[in-house]
Amino acid sequence: MSDAITSVLQENRVFEPSEHFRTSIGTVHVPNMDAYRAEHARSLGDPSKYWGEVARGFHWMHPWQRVLEWNAPDARWFVGGQTNACFNCVDRQVEAGFGDDVAIIWEGEPCSPEPEVRRLTYRELQREVSRTANALLSMGVKCGDVVTIYMGMVPELAIAVLACARIGAPHSVIFGGFAPNAIVDRVLDAQSKVIITCDGAWRRGQVVPLKANVDEACTRLPEVRHVLVLRRTGREVTMHPTRDLWWHECVGAQSDDCPCAAVDSEHPLFLLYTSGSTGKPKGIVHTTGGYMVFTAHTARLTFNLVPARGQVYFCTADLGWITGHSYIVYGLLPNRVPTLMYEGAPNFPAEDRFWAIVERHRVTHFYTAPTAIRSFMKWGDAHPQRHDLSSLLVLGTVGEPINPEAWMWYHRTIGSSRCPIVDTMWQTETGGHIITPLPGATPTVPGSCTLPMFGIDAAIVNERGEELPANTGGLLVIRKPWPSMLRGIHGDRARFIETYWSKVPGMYVAGDGARRDDRGYFWIMGRIDDVINVSGHRLGTMEVESALVSHPAVVEAAVVGMPHEIKGTGIAAFVTLGPDFANSAGAPLKRELQEHVAHEIGAIARPDMIRFTTLLPKTRSGKIMRRLLRDIASGRESRQDTTTLEDFSVLAKLRESDE
Ligand code: WT7
Repeated sequence: MSDAITSVLQENRVFEPSEHFRTSIGTVHVPNMDAYRAEHARSLGDPSKYWGEVARGFHWMHPWQRVLEWNAPDARWFVGGQTNACFNCVDRQVEAGFGDDVAIIWEGEPCSPEPEVRRLTYRELQREVSRTANALLSMGVKCGDVVTIYMGMVPELAIAVLACARIGAPHSVIFGGFAPNAIVDRVLDAQSKVIITCDGAWRRGQVVPLKANVDEACTRLPEVRHVLVLRRTGREVTMHPTRDLWWHECVGAQSDDCPCAAVDSEHPLFLLYTSGSTGKPKGIVHTTGGYMVFTAHTARLTFNLVPARGQVYFCTADLGWITGHSYIVYGLLPNRVPTLMYEGAPNFPAEDRFWAIVERHRVTHFYTAPTAIRSFMKWGDAHPQRHDLSSLLVLGTVGEPINPEAWMWYHRTIGSSRCPIVDTMWQTETGGHIITPLPGATPTVPGSCTLPMFGIDAAIVNERGEELPANTGGLLVIRKPWPSMLRGIHGDRARFIETYWSKVPGMYVAGDGARRDDRGYFWIMGRIDDVINVSGHRLGTMEVESALVSHPAVVEAAVVGMPHEIKGTGIAAFVTLGPDFANSAGAPLKRELQEHVAHEIGAIARPDMIRFTTLLPKTRSGKIMRRLLRDIASGRESRQDTTTLEDFSVLAKLRESDE
């Protein structure tokens, strides 16, 4: 069934937009390929006209003078305009008479026996967000101050994010799976003085000790003035008498009236830290106007959102990643389609949890990652088959290339062969979808993210910026500015230019290798830098190496990606030990090092494979030969030229070290 030959055959299958989708969705925004092509050409032909029209669909407190000012690599969108992203997500719906419509549906993880469900209308959201915004103001947070948020997937996380946007305080959300060190790095870099957290978060029936992690981080963060703590699990936590405040006391005491600050279109909306090739994670900067317009517009088109048609949208991402920012909160609320947040794990209390949610809430749009789909496949068809999934209309995937087997399974078993799959390619830096099918227009091919979004001038080029012919691998670039492009790396202009703008003059370089096929469809081939994509989460190999060498036994470490059945890419570490530890090389030390990395960074960084070696293969100039290690980690015979290897015997030794 899943042998290589079938997957090659399946790659050539084309799936036209289904009749089921067309007839059930109500309005098809982009109904065919002619409409797609015409609109894409129009959007690139006169971007200012196109985006000006789109942006007029939003509320502006002060109109913009110019749609775009572009001095590569610096873009300013809707120049001179003032707006507020929270207003466009929440207040606007209330003012338009939709205050009683459901904005957020939330389902908690514990099921005893039924899960807790909360539904927040736009009016309730407006009140809660306003209270929280007033609480932040009372703690001394001012427009422009960065607020760090480290919470589980509870409604208050979305409320906290929107409260920051309301008063013009950029948020920096840290994924709850990260360790205290990660909090320290991010809070220091952002110079954040306020942290919002929970007593703990439910995950697979266990409590993740978020507050204790913040406490540990704060021993190294003397500048943090306040920690606002939401009670979620009821587990005991230590409250620092002057620094810590309970959410229910502090937020509960506030007025539910707090006007939205009119901020400049280019006012920073948030920082979101993501891994790069070198150094510590970088704070990607997104600003208000362009990000707001692009995420809401692309959410509408990619998922074909239509308000008041009974649509329910469920994205399984955590708000700690860009997917949660753009396609749970900011892109969804302006479209007036309820966005469903689920608190916990996909396999709690059993492996059918997502399908139970789809059935219970009549979910129409389901958006998840290939790694999750591969887990569902492994868990077996009985789980989805136990549930009524007939409400589904559109399926989405994001985070990494999807293998055709997983695509076909998703299509047949979840979508009953009648739901379009949108394979959305984008990045933290792009803010929103850059290459994706449109469900009513684009014929899909399993494994391809198909064609560029409106306003996106994506291409495959060589290092001189010349476009490459079909079926030739090259660099994925975007040649024109788009509204939600990153505006920089917080506090590091040089790194911003070096990472994205120096490889090909005048073009945004995404960091992915890709090709286009004969139909012009894009196929992402993977990262071209030292970033690995583990379960759809980006990790710098250097971060894992630094964590490894911080262990007393380790002298040197080299980390590479290797194929992994569920994660897509797993983490392989080659480690040399200090002289005192030479005899400790064995399974217990491997486990210890795995735990050490998980403790330093977070569980997502735990190496899948560790090999001890006395030497690492290096070139004469001392560079670790990573490609060689990748070949060894994946069990491939290396076809690499090894003439520059410092020590030829290293290769043989590394292979031997495989147990
Ligand atoms: C990297 C960005 C954007 C939200 C999730 C990840 C890879 C993402 C796809 C896709 C192939 C994909 C790329 C990209 N990627 N989506 N549909 N097909 N590859 O965000 O952590 O910023 O990672 O994820 O390699 O560069 P991120």
